Amino acid sequence: MSATLDAQAHAILKENDEGGYTIPTKGLYPYQWNWDSVFVAIGFATFDLNRAWLEIENLFEGQWDDGMVPHIIFRKNDPSYFPGPSVWQTKAEPFPTSGISQPPVAATAVRDLLEASSSADNAERARKIFPKLMAWHRWWLSYRDPQNTGTAAIVHPWESGRDNLPDWDEPISHVDTSNVPEYTRKDTTHVDPEMRPQKEDYDRYMAILCVGRDCGWDAAEVVAKTPFLVADPAITMILLRANRDLLVIAEKLGLNDQKAEIEAWIARQEKGMSFLWNDEIKAYVTVNLRTGVKGTGVSSASFLAPYAGVGEKDVIASMQAHFDRIAEKATYMVPSYDPEHPGFEHRRYWRGPIWAVVNYMIARGLTETGDHIRSEKVRADTAKIIEQSGFAEYFSPIDGTGAGGKAFSWTAAVWLAWATPTLEAKAA
Ligand code: GLC
Repeated sequence: MSATLDAQAHAILKENDEGGYTIPTKGLYPYQWNWDSVFVAIGFATFDLNRAWLEIENLFEGQWDDGMVPHIIFRKNDPSYFPGPSVWQTKAEPFPTSGISQPPVAATAVRDLLEASSSADNAERARKIFPKLMAWHRWWLSYRDPQNTGTAAIVHPWESGRDNLPDWDEPISHVDTSNVPEYTRKDTTHVDPEMRPQKEDYDRYMAILCVGRDCGWDAAEVVAKTPFLVADPAITMILLRANRDLLVIAEKLGLNDQKAEIEAWIARQEKGMSFLWNDEIKAYVTVNLRTGVKGTGVSSASFLAPYAGVGEKDVIASMQAHFDRIAEKATYMVPSYDPEHPGFEHRRYWRGPIWAVVNYMIARGLTETGDHIRSEKVRADTAKIIEQSGFAEYFSPIDGTGAGGKAFSWTAAVWLAWATPTLEAKAA
């Protein structure tokens, strides 16, 4: 069974490989997506290290002069996707791109690739990409922490990678949609509308995009004018983790004069975590920087604390209590949102479903901090839902059914790199 699934996962990566970069899935997402490519690289690294590097190197070809790495790179025009390059109008070179970013997981993967081989070529590739990672992280810390809280803020729900999370409902409710021009969605022609965001949310996504476009995508102006500015615990913790990995890369490559800057970022972010703490629900949550309103639910981001290396004993104890409570309610871990929260929907996009890539990061942190029982529960559940429903985009935590796109690259990659039971067989 696992060997067949391994073969299917390989076939999906091959099928979605556009020659140096990989699309998430045919139809629904026909371009290169930022964090998808990074997870795909981790999958490629299990059998082709060169191809893994290429995926990340190609992603950084889309990096902007200000350091941002965009969330989509439009290497060719594909009318089956909306909103495409003619809507974003970013004037990026050498390829058109979107105007926002996505979770900065790349430095963590680059460290993995660097450590996968001691060859000189491998170190050289890491050395070439290092300044680009520095520039991207600097971009987050200089533009996306306008109140100097030590956290990272997003200017669009899509930038979080967790596009339709219930936590965005309050901040997005203030977005004025009266100036949104007529548009036609394409996502609902590829998958069941029940699994996708509702029309009023989509209008607001478009309204925020139009504000960024009217700012000419100038990083400082966008932050000053966007109606949606929310500090995100997932981005903050992923960036903190990535900074720790960047520091290790600098050490390994002997780039000692870069270390002080990264160490200062880490210290600032470690302090910043308290800004995201919601003491009522005892979890890290979003904070709307325009209104000060905090998120009210436990999202899967809460379980990234070990991955980020944050949390005093009591923070970790609350996280474990939430994990065990949710594991009683859900058949499979880890739902993207608390099943006991009114915003939970088990099959709608980020309002409940499980994402294999998020599980991968959660389990990695749990393993690293010695919580092998919870970590193994996350891995085994991920394997079960893939065995049951294939390489879907996401899965119901209640019945394990697959939803969204099919033959999905990052699900296949994470299967190969972590979830597959054949890894244990190989290690034995
Ligand atoms: C959706 C997800 C986002 C992902 C993209 C491509 O927009 O919310 O996280 O990067 O699909 O898979």
